[in-house]
Amino acid sequence: MSSALHAGNGKVTVPDIIRHKTGSSSNLQNSGRDSGGRKIVCLTAYDYPTARLVDDAGVDVVLVGDSLGMVVLGHENTLPLTVEEMLHHTKAVRRGVRKALLVADMPYGSFHADKNEAVRNAVRFVKEAGAEAVKVEGGERRMDLIAQIVEAEIPVMAHIGLTPQSMHAFGGFRVQGKTVDAAEQILRDARAVEAAGAFSVVLESIPREIAGRITSELRIPTIGIGAGPECDGQILVLHDMIGLSLGHTPKFTRRYANVGESISQAASAYAQDVREGRFPADEESYHLSNEVRERLLAVRRS
Ligand code: KIV
Repeated sequence: MSSALHAGNGKVTVPDIIRHKTGSSSNLQNSGRDSGGRKIVCLTAYDYPTARLVDDAGVDVVLVGDSLGMVVLGHENTLPLTVEEMLHHTKAVRRGVRKALLVADMPYGSFHADKNEAVRNAVRFVKEAGAEAVKVEGGERRMDLIAQIVEAEIPVMAHIGLTPQSMHAFGGFRVQGKTVDAAEQILRDARAVEAAGAFSVVLESIPREIAGRITSELRIPTIGIGAGPECDGQILVLHDMIGLSLGHTPKFTRRYANVGESISQAASAYAQDVREGRFPADEESYHLSNEVRERLLAVRRS
């Protein structure tokens, strides 16, 4: 990315996201005023055109989420996604994002076996794909890992509550924190990731009351998805909110467009036009110049 995008010209940085909570001035997009009290707007993207569109729309953070595995690559869950696949898509998104902070998700298996390997993988997202931060799922048990990645100069966005990479341990995609014990564990997870040095934390699919309590306790911003309106910011999966994901969409998704239906209608109309000879029309065809046409006819006649 060119240095024209550095802070001072509207580029959102990690310190801007951290400062959000203190209310001091930041580059959060569309602001032009102090950021305290404004919500942080985050959205996923997985390729160049959607990255450009969401960045131009003024979101603050673009996440290349491992939801990529489900909504773009057609897997049933996020577990099969590889580091190479995530890098490939993060590079494409990097080419489209100019102002928003670009965060890449560390996929399942990329940080679970060995901490040094995990740090090496995090470095690849920054060095090879141009990410400005990585996201890591898990709370208390990821404290050492988060601290080590931060030590390697890579800002970490934590992710607690319903962590989809733990789906087998959770017995599916279920709302978390509904009992006293489970709620207390999520509070411990939130405090742990902050203590480990995360600059923000995603709270996924937890009761609004718990998200509100975490938001008021922590010094780092909370980004909610299915965690109610008290969070400091919100994130949605792009394909869910534009009506382009073909599977189940969770209750917390709000649909802002029906791109899936538009694509189906366009493909059906195109198929009908081709089959009935209406496409391409003469205006959509290339033509020879009169001179070349006549010379070709003359060759044919001779
Ligand atoms: O993978 C993803 O898109 C995510 C967001 C839903 C937070 O983790």
